[in-house]
Amino acid sequence: MRRFARVALLCLGCAVCSLLYGLSQLALSLEQEPGGGRDTQARDPAAPGGRRRAGSAGRGEAGTERYEYMKTHPPEKMHLAVVACGERLEETVTMLRSAIIFSIKPLHFHIFAEDQLHESFKDTLDEFPYEGKVYYTLYPITFPSESAAEWKKLFKPCASQRLFLPLILKNVDSLLYVDTDILFLRPVDDIWSFLGKFNSTQIAAMAPEHEEPRIGWYNRFARHPYYGVTGINSGVMLMNMTRIRRKYFKNDMTPVRLQWREILMPLLKKYKLNITWGDQDLLNIMFFHNPESLYVFPCQWNYRPDHCIYGSNCKAAEEEGIFILHGNRGVYHDDKQPTFRAVYEAIKNYSFGDDLVHSLLQPLEQELQKTMHTYCGRVYKVFIKQLTKSIRDLYARRSKGRLMFDDVQGFESSVLNQYFLYKVTVFLHPTLYGLKIGGVHLGIVENTG
Ligand SMILES: *[C@@H]1O[C@H](CO)[C@@H](O)[C@H](O)[C@H]1NC(C)=O
Ligand SMILES: *[C@@H]1O[C@H](CO)[C@@H](O)[C@H](O)[C@H]1NC(C)=O
Ligand SMILES: *[C@@H]1O[C@H](CO)[C@@H](O)[C@H](O)[C@H]1NC(C)=O
Ligand SMILES: *[C@@H]1O[C@H](CO)[C@@H](O)[C@H](O)[C@H]1NC(C)=O
Repeated sequence: MRRFARVALLCLGCAVCSLLYGLSQLALSLEQEPGGGRDTQARDPAAPGGRRRAGSAGRGEAGTERYEYMKTHPPEKMHLAVVACGERLEETVTMLRSAIIFSIKPLHFHIFAEDQLHESFKDTLDEFPYEGKVYYTLYPITFPSESAAEWKKLFKPCASQRLFLPLILKNVDSLLYVDTDILFLRPVDDIWSFLGKFNSTQIAAMAPEHEEPRIGWYNRFARHPYYGVTGINSGVMLMNMTRIRRKYFKNDMTPVRLQWREILMPLLKKYKLNITWGDQDLLNIMFFHNPESLYVFPCQWNYRPDHCIYGSNCKAAEEEGIFILHGNRGVYHDDKQPTFRAVYEAIKNYSFGDDLVHSLLQPLEQELQKTMHTYCGRVYKVFIKQLTKSIRDLYARRSKGRLMFDDVQGFESSVLNQYFLYKVTVFLHPTLYGLKIGGVHLGIVENTG
């Protein structure tokens, strides 16, 4: 009996020690989180990358070690680019907000905008309450210096900017380009994960321009080659730019293959009289000649009015809901497609930190029900199917995090913590593991949750 008591005492001692160790590690790492890191984010166009400031010294060995770990294994950032010209400020900001609400990994926005929009972007983005989760860099509309003058003459500057992203963002490996009229209804992480599914020849991913050839534009009207049966839409374009920069492209201008930086100008010169939709047409021509390089994702990743205005034709969205909404032709701002407009307004109306069910989902559903007299309104449920799931997943992630950390640091229930917790979790993993071995980890979590 005495022996048993001694063993029990020993066990209890071990458990308490590992608990204390775990909590001290936790406290250390929380202190080290770049919480007050305004100045550490990329604000300065001259310093893209937004590197984190070095942690302060003298926090003891484990802390230093962990800091070293952070330095050598920074959380992978997802890079999102957009080109904003004219009256697109509010629309762009709404798109960026939708990306922030659901995403898990940190985001780096590359915003190409006309000079007069820069101040407003800066003011708005600096107000976003997502320290450490969101980085951004503002750029002027730019062309590669060799041919800048020529390009500006031939093409409206904003329209062709996206073609040059692989050449301008030389240090970025992969990038999701989106039009300003995009809304994310699920984490950016999910479309980003397609990059990992590319086979060895694929360099970019896009959705088809149409599901229904009878109403397709390219197959009926185009005076140039285009990809596949109905062409591709470039409003949501995922690129492995490392591969784009390396590839030699087959083409119908010379018998030799050309690199991205060499192909654009000849292509434009040859087709400029025949193209209608600008750079999207050039991309179609390019992937017509190099079809093995394109990964095609289904229509619910780039859902446009064409998918419902003549009756629903995006089968994948009917089954799983819309993942990324693309309100092209200005439908967020007029009354032609109230279903699209309602989603836009709901996200615009939503304030960060508010409850997503009461402040986003419910008002949206009410508005959508008023649009059932339109073709798109008849399938309004596909507009909230994935959104509902994304909100549920987000809350599940958050409550899982809260359970572990609430009592330790007295966190509030703001969305801010979502990424914070994600990082702490990944970061602290070895410690938690140690705690589990100590045998008290689960007990603590349950008791304080
Ligand atoms: C442009 O369109 C015209 C009329 O359809 C066609 O004859 C011509 O071959 C096209 N040009 C190119 C470069 O494809
Ligand atoms: C992009 O392609 C390069 C070269 O194949 C590869 O090293 C890199 O990991 C790819 N990026 C992503 C995010 O998959
Ligand atoms: C990669 O996938 C594309 C599209 O399915 C295909 O055309 C291409 O042949 C594939 N490449 C390899 C190396 O399998
Ligand atoms: C957004 O706010 C406007 C103005 O307050 C309101 O009229 C509209 O119904 C709201 N829309 C949604 C979808 O919440």
